[in-house]
Amino acid sequence: MAFERVCSLDDIWQGDMESFEVSGTDILLVHLEEGGIHAIQAQCPHQEVELADGSLDGAVLTCSMHLWQFDVVSGKGVNPSHAEVAKYPVKVEGDDVFVDIESIEPKFASA
Ligand code: FES
Repeated sequence: MAFERVCSLDDIWQGDMESFEVSGTDILLVHLEEGGIHAIQAQCPHQEVELADGSLDGAVLTCSMHLWQFDVVSGKGVNPSHAEVAKYPVKVEGDDVFVDIESIEPKFASA
């Protein structure tokens, strides 16, 4: 495990999401309205559109392009259910957010 500091808690408000690059890997940090920060791959597994351009409703992220939906807590597809996004371990220490991208590759799904 190799956690790297990504940002401070002030950089990402609750109910908001923001893309970051961590050692050459694009990730999306999602700070849920009810609390809790989750890190997933930054691009949609369908056609690699930026998920940061999508919308967040609770823990469900909807891609802006073809409206695929993902549960950012589990990383599983809500619709379609076979799709999935890569999740990265997150830890918060004080005001700092750390993510471990090691050995985790983004996922892809064609249909
Ligand atoms: S690119 Fe995200 S749903 Fe198609």
